[in-house]
Amino acid sequence: MKTILITGATSGIGLAAAQQLAAGGDRLVLVGRNPHKLADSAELVRAAGAGAVDTLECDFASQSSVRQLAKAVQADYDRIDVLANNAGGYQPTRNETEDGIETTFAVNHLGGYLLTELLTDLLIQSAPARILFTSSVMHYGATLDLADLGFHQGYSGEKAYSRSKLANVLYARALADRLAGTGVTVNAFHPGAVSTGVWDSLPWFAQPLVGLSKRLFFISAAEGAAALTFLATDPSVAEVTGTYFRKTRARTPSRLARDDALGQHLCAVSAALVGLLE
Ligand SMILES: NC(=O)c1ccc[n+]([C@@H]2O[C@H](COP(=O)([O-])OP(=O)(O)OC[C@H]3O[C@@H](n4cnc5c(N)ncnc54)[C@H](OP(=O)(O)O)[C@@H]3O)[C@@H](O)[C@H]2O)c1
Repeated sequence: MKTILITGATSGIGLAAAQQLAAGGDRLVLVGRNPHKLADSAELVRAAGAGAVDTLECDFASQSSVRQLAKAVQADYDRIDVLANNAGGYQPTRNETEDGIETTFAVNHLGGYLLTELLTDLLIQSAPARILFTSSVMHYGATLDLADLGFHQGYSGEKAYSRSKLANVLYARALADRLAGTGVTVNAFHPGAVSTGVWDSLPWFAQPLVGLSKRLFFISAAEGAAALTFLATDPSVAEVTGTYFRKTRARTPSRLARDDALGQHLCAVSAALVGLLE
């Protein structure tokens, strides 16, 4: 039985993916910040056929919470076959976490970065293993100013979200390079435009368009989750690493996402921001 850990497993793409992956009879480890939602999600995933379902609490806006999560995983599991870094959100107005970091960057990039770094040895021991990042097509429009990562100047929810999703691709590529030859693959993907709660945080004036798009154009959470499920399990991508996917198809990511030096810089800055020595 494989052990598959999914963050952001309490709604949308993460929950739908957990339900799909449960059909394989594996152990699903659901990570979420809300204990009630975790309990409800666990019931759904159990009903979908999981061999076992565990839940772990974590608020990705808090580095100490991420460290506690990593400790719990290290204590309770002797292997992790798939780590899906999927938790994420959109912040219409700029705010900072308890660690003094702009929240979008903290939750969408740094939280997954810290968790992955802390679990890397366990993943290598578990090889073959897969690490995934739910990124976005929004990364194509992103900028990355390492001197002002948190948009002290010129914040917008869209710019911060796009930057965090670029960071997902840059980190996935850099980590894939570092883990080459270990049997651990690292990939990032865009799930499609998916009808989930992430859109509900967009400003009020965008909501009529969001509502219309959800009804007419967006795919369902299950359809969006299909990419995560495919990348987590499909034998055809067992050896693929350092790749950006649009749904299940490999695609060339943005010019910035392919900038290896920028990726190294981002990793160094991220390590400093979470107190890890590179
Ligand atoms: N929907 C799309 O069109 C789309 C497109 C591209 C990429 N994505 C990405 O897909 C991922 C999943 O989003 P979704 O679309 O499925 O939206 P969603 O339904 O809102 O799910 C987001 C998940 O992340 C969790 N989360 C958010 N902030 C968190 C925090 N501080 N600590 C712990 N967990 C947190 C949420 O927990 P709660 O249940 O407690 O809120 C939820 O489980 C995100 O990374 C998003 O950026 C989505």
